[in-house]
Amino acid sequence: MAMWIDTHPPLNVCVLQTGETYACAGGESLLRGMLRLGRKGIPVGCVNGGCGACKVRIVDGSVTTLGPISRAHVSADEERAGVTLACRVAPASAVTLEVAGRLERPFSRGPATATSPISTQ
Ligand code: FES
Repeated sequence: MAMWIDTHPPLNVCVLQTGETYACAGGESLLRGMLRLGRKGIPVGCVNGGCGACKVRIVDGSVTTLGPISRAHVSADEERAGVTLACRVAPASAVTLEVAGRLERPFSRGPATATSPISTQ
């Protein structure tokens, strides 16, 4: 009996800042995998390597490059530190990443800064 073997099983991708986890196919960019599932976490721009919005740092795991990574958005030093564009790389293993682009928003878990009404009696 023939067995069907999936050579590109989905790989888990975790976005550190949000804790979002989604499954991304091996030949699919990290950004497209997130968009296909309607998930959020990585900032989305041109989805074509041109804007730098999706800049991330690979904290754990490995990726394969699908297209050129523009030096206008990722310097050689950044690339050596694991920074890349999520729309230009696909997972080669389970991946943990953090958003590193200029659209990064603080996800502080510190004390709330909102003020509560003060009673004036
Ligand atoms: S979304 Fe524009 S470079 Fe990735």
